[in-house]
Amino acid sequence: MPTRVIPVDPFDLVIFGGTGDLARRKILPALFVRYLACQLPADARIIGAARADLDDTGFRALAAEAIAEFGCETSRHGRDLKGFLETLHYVSVDARGEGGWPELKAMMRDGVIRAFYFSVGPALFGDLAERLHAHGIADRGCRLVVEKPFGRDLESARELNATLAQHFDEAQIYRIDHYLGKETVQNLMAVRFGNVLFEPLWNNHYVDHIQITVAETVGVAGRGEYYDRAGAMRDMVQNHLMQLLCLIAMEPPNMFEAGAVRDEKLKVIRALQPVDPHQIVRGQYDPRDDIPGYREEAGNPRSHTESFIALKVHIDNWRWAGVPFYLRTGKRLKARSSEIAVVFNELGHSIFEEDVEPHRNILSIRLQPNEGIDLQVTIKEPGPGGMRLIDLPLDMTFADALDGHDEDVADAYERLIMDVIRGNQTLFMRGDEVEAAWAWTDPIIAGWRGRNDVPKHYESGSNGPEDSQMLLHRDGRRWREIKGE
Ligand code: BG6
Repeated sequence: MPTRVIPVDPFDLVIFGGTGDLARRKILPALFVRYLACQLPADARIIGAARADLDDTGFRALAAEAIAEFGCETSRHGRDLKGFLETLHYVSVDARGEGGWPELKAMMRDGVIRAFYFSVGPALFGDLAERLHAHGIADRGCRLVVEKPFGRDLESARELNATLAQHFDEAQIYRIDHYLGKETVQNLMAVRFGNVLFEPLWNNHYVDHIQITVAETVGVAGRGEYYDRAGAMRDMVQNHLMQLLCLIAMEPPNMFEAGAVRDEKLKVIRALQPVDPHQIVRGQYDPRDDIPGYREEAGNPRSHTESFIALKVHIDNWRWAGVPFYLRTGKRLKARSSEIAVVFNELGHSIFEEDVEPHRNILSIRLQPNEGIDLQVTIKEPGPGGMRLIDLPLDMTFADALDGHDEDVADAYERLIMDVIRGNQTLFMRGDEVEAAWAWTDPIIAGWRGRNDVPKHYESGSNGPEDSQMLLHRDGRRWREIKGE
């Protein structure tokens, strides 16, 4: 099945922080893959902008290296790589001074889309926005892409929104949460709103509870300084898990369109109940064998920052009243595995006398690895032993089911950058959503501080602290197994 590639209009994309980690790991490799898919127009221009004293040749060499290291195998694409590199240019700019801005202005073309990717710390957002405006580089139709972390609390997020709003309309601002660009996350919406089967059951009459797990095997090495100030709550829950929660819980938007989808997500965030501190478990990984523990990796021997968190959340609305949502995420867990599981109610009455085990349907959406969906159904155990029932998954692993499509599954950044050029904000966070998410998160974090809360220890390579199992056991439930890579 060939993938349908929708071409985009000619553009000038300026990447501030063009020599930085994110540009090298994600943005440049993603653009190259879109180039290989013939999606970039012949006259697309990608301009790296940073403080480093480089020229076009130097930037192209940096991009080639980054693509070799983090992107696809370049040896297979020699000629294409050369073509792609020719779209790259470089300008050295001083975000906090005047150097380089006239040169950048001279490089911009009229009549093409202008997009500015702020791949820099939020402390520079204001300076960049101000200078783009002052030098007349930002035109009315231009787009601004900003990365997380979008603030570290409600107050700082409000400030950032206000700073950007001085020079840009909300319709020009693309706040990235790369989870929204993941193939299966979008599939979640396709499954919910593209089938008649699920929607009638998607409520507190049929759903017992929902589990959202994002488990990682990596630690915080290399990012310790940032992470120790953030912790799993700010780094993952306030954004990625919150977005997953919104998509699974929101009301059907009347159209798959930016305004409608974001309105519905916002309603979910605003309906979140404050979380009871007893329904939260924080953890920190210990050293094991030659793997350093959290405190060592974070470079803070007395740190009380959580590298794991599990919490029970309730949504105050008609659809979900009484249905718990259990969220958990952590580093150095047993496997890399992200999944949303919708656990339906047990059957009210069984007509099969021999069958004493309870059965329930579970719809699980696997985000990574091994993207796919499976629905646990109850069937008869084969053989002549009477009506004994077993639960089996109706498994749709996308790589198997969509033969030939697995290689085409775009990285989240490929899709999101193309959406910026297309002017489609559906998969980006709106300012009010981000603020509402912080408004819910802030009191939780403040509560830990007030109580001097200390995270529980857990072993590297485990399921997280024992107490997180208790969180569900107390309710007569249990976490699904973390299994994956
Ligand atoms: C980032 C977090 O936003 O997402 C990281 O800052 C985390 O700590 C990463 O590791 C996870 O992303 P993915 O796509 O690998 O699941």
